[in-house]
Amino acid sequence: MNEKIKWGIIGPGRIARAFAKGLSYTSNAELYGVASRTLQRSKDFANEWSVPMAFGSYQELAEEKSIDAIYVATPHSEHHDAALTCMRNRKAVLCEKPLAVNATQAFSMVQEAKKQEVLLMEGMWSRFPPLMEKVRQLVHEKVIGEIRLLQADFGFMPKDLDPAGRLFNPSLAGGSLLDVGIYPISFSSMLLGMPIDIETIATLGKTEVDEQASYLLKYESGAHAMLHSSICCETSQEATIFGTLGSIRIHKQCWRPQKITITNHSTEKQEIIEMPFNGNGFNYEAESFSDLLLSDKKDSDIMPMQESLEIITLLDRIREKWGLRYPFEKN
Ligand SMILES: NC(=O)c1ccc[n+]([C@@H]2O[C@H](COP(=O)([O-])OP(=O)(O)OC[C@H]3O[C@@H](n4cnc5c(N)ncnc54)[C@H](OP(=O)(O)O)[C@@H]3O)[C@@H](O)[C@H]2O)c1
Repeated sequence: MNEKIKWGIIGPGRIARAFAKGLSYTSNAELYGVASRTLQRSKDFANEWSVPMAFGSYQELAEEKSIDAIYVATPHSEHHDAALTCMRNRKAVLCEKPLAVNATQAFSMVQEAKKQEVLLMEGMWSRFPPLMEKVRQLVHEKVIGEIRLLQADFGFMPKDLDPAGRLFNPSLAGGSLLDVGIYPISFSSMLLGMPIDIETIATLGKTEVDEQASYLLKYESGAHAMLHSSICCETSQEATIFGTLGSIRIHKQCWRPQKITITNHSTEKQEIIEMPFNGNGFNYEAESFSDLLLSDKKDSDIMPMQESLEIITLLDRIREKWGLRYPFEKN
């Protein structure tokens, strides 16, 4: 293992650029390789981010001996195959959310990680900023008492409305659930675990993917979660946790948390905590993953593989209620 983790990136698109920037703020990692399906795209990305090695196939990066960890930044439908290629070559994998398009794929990825004894983590970067750690601590210390209700939403109006693009294309597992709905759902999983009951409605658009969806979840404790996702309008992008003693509001954009307000419901006293990012936010996830790798860990306590499996299983159940199957799932 290198002293600093040498990273490779698969799928040099939009989010790969944000991750490359995030890596530049870390102390324990460096960007060392990039792979595209097209060598020229790979070389362009390598020039833009001063990456030493550029490859014209994902396989070549996976086989490169000097690389320790690979960030999979392809559309959802390609996560499974890309991650398996990496793990079969004994590379640790940080895979963008969702870990896979369905539970079947996700299970095979987790199985491969265990077989190869490599670290695999879903890139739910919202869990890693210091303020989210603070939220977990406040909830754990019962500052707001017992959680009774959680409200969270993530809706945005895309600039690119191309029906063939990854947001609207069912063959790329498009739709609001897998793209942004997973943020409030993962957030409720982090604080409340898995629900015992779900009600959900979705509006499918012209391409037959969910353009918006609402989710009502009930937990064994009696708590509820009211969640929403949209790729057809911008929503408040906030999250509020209501407890028996008070509430914690995570201000816009709750998926990259930098400001919260804690309210004590009996005194009506409010405390605002702000923790601006030191970097672009992706650095926290990358740093945490690199630390795990440097200490030879095979799973993350913050985003464990088992929880990713539970979340994608829940997403499958939600889609089943809507009757939504992606084209590659039919037959
Ligand atoms: N964490 C976040 O805040 C965040 C934000 C946005 C997106 N994401 C996640 O990041 C992933 C990528 O999103 P993105 O917006 O960066 O995607 P994108 O720009 O549309 O695609 C990323 C790259 O994937 C590669 N690719 C491989 N197979 C492909 C296929 N069949 N069709 C199109 N491209 C393919 C392409 O690179 P080559 O052809 O060069 O190999 C493409 O440039 C998704 O899983 C998404 O959910 C996360």
